[in-house]
Amino acid sequence: MKVVVIHGPNLNMLGIREQNIYGPIKLEEINKQMKTVAEQNKIDIEFFQSNLEGEIIDKIQECLGEADGIIINPAAYTHTSIAIRDAIAAIQLPVIEVHISNIHRREDFRAKSLTAPVCSGQISGFGPFGYHLAMMAILQIFTEIQAIKNQQNAKVKQN
Ligand code: DQA
Repeated sequence: MKVVVIHGPNLNMLGIREQNIYGPIKLEEINKQMKTVAEQNKIDIEFFQSNLEGEIIDKIQECLGEADGIIINPAAYTHTSIAIRDAIAAIQLPVIEVHISNIHRREDFRAKSLTAPVCSGQISGFGPFGYHLAMMAILQIFTEIQAIKNQQNAKVKQN
């Protein structure tokens, strides 16, 4: 199983930017913690950060046939990017959307996510722990997909 973690614009500034909202933790530390959980669960994990919409879209498209699921924080593109939403919808993989802050209790323009409706689910407001929750969620989804595949194989063998 392979998970690709996509971090959107300005998340490379974590630990520096608006610490009162995003806390002191750096992106490398978040990635390190996710890698530990992935290794414990025998999941192959890849990290990608970009400040550019097109690069994020290219990465999402590359996941088709390469990855089993995506964890994405589209950052500000969450609220603006129909193109990222369309890319997520196109690949038909389990995608978990993460926000460090609670986007529903900030400015009005942050409350709307264009991307969440095409994701399996959204985790928002738990700080960096949200990425850990996203790992748990994607592991659960993989377990469910595997159980369905096993059932289908058993049926094929019966027939
Ligand atoms: C964010 C929330 C967005 O509104 C903001 O533009 C970000 C970070 C979060 O993780 O809380 O850059 O996605």
